[in-house]
Amino acid sequence: MSILIDNIGELVTNDEGAGLLGLRRDVAVVVEGDRIAWIGPSAQAPASDQRIDAGGGAVLPGFVDSHAHLVFAGDRAAEFGARMAGEPYTGGGIRTTVAATRAASDDDLRRNAGRLVAEARRQGTTTIEIKSGYGLNVEDEARSLRIARELSDETTFLGAHVVPAGSDPGEYVDLVRGSMLAACAPYAKWVDVFCDRGAFDEEQTRAILTAGKQRGLGLRVHANQLTEGPGVRLAVELGAASADHCTHLSSADVDALAGSATVATLLPGAEFSTRSPYPDARRLIDTGVTVALATDCNPGSSYTSSMPFCIALAVRDMRMTPAEAVHAATAGGAKTLRRDDIGRLRPGARADLTVLDAPSHLHLAYRPGVPLIRQVLHNGIPSNYPAAAPDTTKGLLS
Ligand code: NIG
Ligand code: FE
Repeated sequence: MSILIDNIGELVTNDEGAGLLGLRRDVAVVVEGDRIAWIGPSAQAPASDQRIDAGGGAVLPGFVDSHAHLVFAGDRAAEFGARMAGEPYTGGGIRTTVAATRAASDDDLRRNAGRLVAEARRQGTTTIEIKSGYGLNVEDEARSLRIARELSDETTFLGAHVVPAGSDPGEYVDLVRGSMLAACAPYAKWVDVFCDRGAFDEEQTRAILTAGKQRGLGLRVHANQLTEGPGVRLAVELGAASADHCTHLSSADVDALAGSATVATLLPGAEFSTRSPYPDARRLIDTGVTVALATDCNPGSSYTSSMPFCIALAVRDMRMTPAEAVHAATAGGAKTLRRDDIGRLRPGARADLTVLDAPSHLHLAYRPGVPLIRQVLHNGIPSNYPAAAPDTTKGLLS
């Protein structure tokens, strides 16, 4: 089964083409099965079984959301309300979600996570990483990851989210790197630790990440979200694929990232929803650090599944250019997952792409809050979202 996509206003390849985004115009794309088969001048496009008319809209690689916490029950709207009335965010609400998650059935957790994956897909996300971290005992962490694995190959064991109420920190760290890791590793590709004030310190983080690495898991770190601390340095030292948040960085942290293969994943939804200062994306990019953008979708610090929203925040409030933000939300996310089959559009890549109801990638930040995703292809399979509204201009103006 092949699909020709033509009448493309602008193709973002993140590969060969103009500028950071590898922009191409006057080209068509042919998808065969779950892969991109051909990109070239429309007039030379090979015959295909089906045609998608992009209507002059931009076509981009599907967004790669490399940081999300989707397996949970309940919400924390009241906590958000209190924060907007002046309360600080401390991460303490995680325990509220842990209690709700433990009490929920498998089907409730599955339904809620599935709803969020579908919500993300409607907003152009074709790959989403899913963490555990609201079970915090062997059984509930393992079932969180089993459910996450039904929805994504990119699953992360975050037993070290916080020390659960009533547990001794030392004993909990031993549990996480011992029997909890053993029960969770079969369903996880990655291990992550929240290394910050009120969560895990340097020694505890090192012990857990090292145990995960020995089990063959890749490393990610929640680093320097609430305070400056050892998270970023540790991520670089241990060869983590990603240091996430990076809100409070010393010069040594920035330099360490710049000289490493560790990507800085910025999560502006968290700063938005906790009314915190944004990470200094300009400083990171100008120093040579690879930057990714992700949603951090979770019921506490960032309850959004929208990559376009995060792109808009990154452009407006973190001084990233629209091209840098789109690149970070696609190729950047792919790099944090150490994937080269996604995040770029080139022959052989996975056919994960999105068609905008707008002629260029600029519109993602230029028209914030507007549903601009016309169509998404995931593994070459198209899903349609509310098509462009009928043209009522004449009626409205005459
Ligand atoms: O990435 N910082 C730790 N974990 C999440 C928040 C989780 C929560 O508040 O429920 C984060 O922001
Ligand atoms: Fe997070």
